Amino acid sequence: MDKLEEIIREALSLFASIDDAVELEQVKARFLGKSGALTDLQKGLGRVPAEERPAMGVKFNAAKEQLEAALTARRDAIQRKKLEAQLAQEALDVTLPGRGTGSAGLHPVTRTLERIEDLFHSLGFEVATGPEIETDFYNFTALNQPENHPARSMHDTFYLDDGKHLLRTHTSPIQIRYMEKHRPPLRIIAPGRVYRVDSDATHSPMFHQVEGLWIDDSVTFADLKGLIAEFLRRFFERDDLKVRFRPSFFPFTEPSAEIDMSFGDGWLEIGGCGMVHPQVLKNVNIDSEAFQGFAFGLGPDRLTMLRYGVNDLRLFFENDLRFLKQFN
Ligand code: DAH
Repeated sequence: MDKLEEIIREALSLFASIDDAVELEQVKARFLGKSGALTDLQKGLGRVPAEERPAMGVKFNAAKEQLEAALTARRDAIQRKKLEAQLAQEALDVTLPGRGTGSAGLHPVTRTLERIEDLFHSLGFEVATGPEIETDFYNFTALNQPENHPARSMHDTFYLDDGKHLLRTHTSPIQIRYMEKHRPPLRIIAPGRVYRVDSDATHSPMFHQVEGLWIDDSVTFADLKGLIAEFLRRFFERDDLKVRFRPSFFPFTEPSAEIDMSFGDGWLEIGGCGMVHPQVLKNVNIDSEAFQGFAFGLGPDRLTMLRYGVNDLRLFFENDLRFLKQFN
């Protein structure tokens, strides 16, 4: 039965050399199929002497089983290899940083604006807004700065090509717009963006202001100073913070003052204020004999720099995430 052993040897070595499932089944047929080598050999069994047949039969069956077992092992091996290759290809690199969902945060100036709104709200002030593209009338004329008034040159204004509009240079026009629609008593703050032709470490062509306005029958300059001091102490959470008013000039207030707050050994200017000029009240048809009040303008960008210790205003508007993330 050398022939049988030879077939088995050949089959086993062939099976072992195959890596493809389909090819393996084809090769199987060459040995165990209807006209396969082993089947052919088995057919010749009839010519073997009768007494040897049972032993021969046993051998054939053992051979078949051996080949089937080898096939099964090979099939499993091929399948496993395929799976491993697939897993290797789809493998997760657990050392990569996760994707996660980044959490958003508020801009430091937005934080300041919200804080200012909250604090003034608790002092009884409503929030008013107005357009960033203004007319000459609201930005200047109604605020007691007629054409050719020298105070206009204090603001380096961006004018629009139509010659009628400009980018508001301050939030004060919101006073006018609000007083046109509301009668005293009134108490508002008006935060927003303003624009001037100016740019360096402490000036940006776009910056923020918060306007304040309180008109009633007997609001005084003392109320103004008390309110500003109260606000600043709450804003900076410092009871020892000092406020100083320096005489100044604004066309829409009389008298007018610059607001300074104590900072370290010195003083820092953080806004302007004054008693609303009677002419401004007249411009919006409010009786300046019956009503009076004050207005103020604060620089929230400056307040943000002071609160967080930022030394360059431009950092707020470059939107570098490495900077902005520090506030969230
Ligand atoms: N509008 C002024 C400016 O931008 C700031 C200001 C000063 C506003 C005095 C006021 C005020 O309401 O009373 O320079």
